[in-house]
Amino acid sequence: MYSPTLSELKTLPHGALVLDEGGVLRDVLPHAPAGADAEVHDYGDALVMPSFVDMHLHAPQYPMLGMGMDLPLMDWLNTYTFRTEARFADADYARRTYRRLARELITGGTTRVCMFSSLHTDATLILMEELERAGVTGYVGKVNMDRNSGDALRETTEQSKRETLRWLDACADFRHIRPILTPRFTPSCTDDLMAWLGALAEERGLYVQSHLSENGGEIALVKELHPDCSQYWETYAKYGLWKDHTVMAHCVHSDAREREALRRHNVVVAHCAGSNINICSGVAPVRTMLDEGVWVTLGSDIAGGAQLAMNRVITMSIRASKILHMKTDGETAFLTVNEAYYLGSTAGHRYFGADGGFAVGQPLHAIVVDDSVFAEPVRPLDLRERFERSIYLMDPGAICAVWSDGRQVVGGAPVVPGKGDGNNN
Ligand code: GUN
Ligand code: FE
Repeated sequence: MYSPTLSELKTLPHGALVLDEGGVLRDVLPHAPAGADAEVHDYGDALVMPSFVDMHLHAPQYPMLGMGMDLPLMDWLNTYTFRTEARFADADYARRTYRRLARELITGGTTRVCMFSSLHTDATLILMEELERAGVTGYVGKVNMDRNSGDALRETTEQSKRETLRWLDACADFRHIRPILTPRFTPSCTDDLMAWLGALAEERGLYVQSHLSENGGEIALVKELHPDCSQYWETYAKYGLWKDHTVMAHCVHSDAREREALRRHNVVVAHCAGSNINICSGVAPVRTMLDEGVWVTLGSDIAGGAQLAMNRVITMSIRASKILHMKTDGETAFLTVNEAYYLGSTAGHRYFGADGGFAVGQPLHAIVVDDSVFAEPVRPLDLRERFERSIYLMDPGAICAVWSDGRQVVGGAPVVPGKGDGNNN
């Protein structure tokens, strides 16, 4: 099953995916071809669907998962978050923590990420190594933050520039993980640094990720810092950071004009419903954004968000949309399971050039879910019901295989060697 567009879920009972030797998807078939001369991975009656994409999360906040959600954003950052991230000056601690994070991501079915590291170059490189090792692919950013971060976590403007260049030089050899420029958000970056990053993005053809319009106190601070900008997004646009494929987390309080700027410049929204509720930021108007043609994806935003598993991020986004639905007396339609899955999978894969669910011509990114581990249903379920239940209930115990960038990186399945080829293991 796969979701080619926001409104569709396609199901192929006992269908087949045809891959070439490099794991590139060549065809999606309604039935496995009889007598094909190929290695066959037979997953029996399990569900095969495109994997998840986490478009916004903070790796160095993994150790504070499930803690400290009693403060609004700016106080939460200053009280808990920056102190936690400061710990990643220690390379051994970073190695241990990031190895575990990478494992939890991949066994949970997240094969592509757009991720924040901390400001530490060495820990960022360790994070990239551990993601590659586990089979997670995507973008990672060394965070730039040269003001307003307190004593624990500080870099000067010059250090920030120098370390960014050192980091970019050192990540040339990664195969599956690429760098993305990451000014933390406007309150954390001087104008000098923002201008330098904008020029660097242009010069090297790099993408950019940051935060936008998450919380009232934050928005007021940005206004104070940039009195010349009438809206938050303009503080990024001013320095060349607001462009095609820029990822902006949250956008909870983006009004019609800011949303129009998102749409016009093909800036990607990473909607983080759990985080927005945990630290009382609000509920983003996702339905309105979708109706307006804004590109919306989902992020776990750990550790503002307390759940790394993207199927839970998907169901949280459904619940958040139901809050808006109830608040508007039913006028704003909530997200259906399929729509939310589309946002947490297909819309994210699109960022990496793979559109349409199972993207023919692209390396396979997929999960295999064994839903026989859930309670025995009172009657046989159709595929849509099995899909819904799996999205709500799956955990790593139910995900029996994960394919990332054309390679099976988790689990196994009985492999039937192709004719004339006895050595396919
Ligand atoms: N804005 C700037 N930094 C952060 C962060 O670490 N988490 C969240 N939720 N918002 C931010
Ligand atoms: Fe964030």
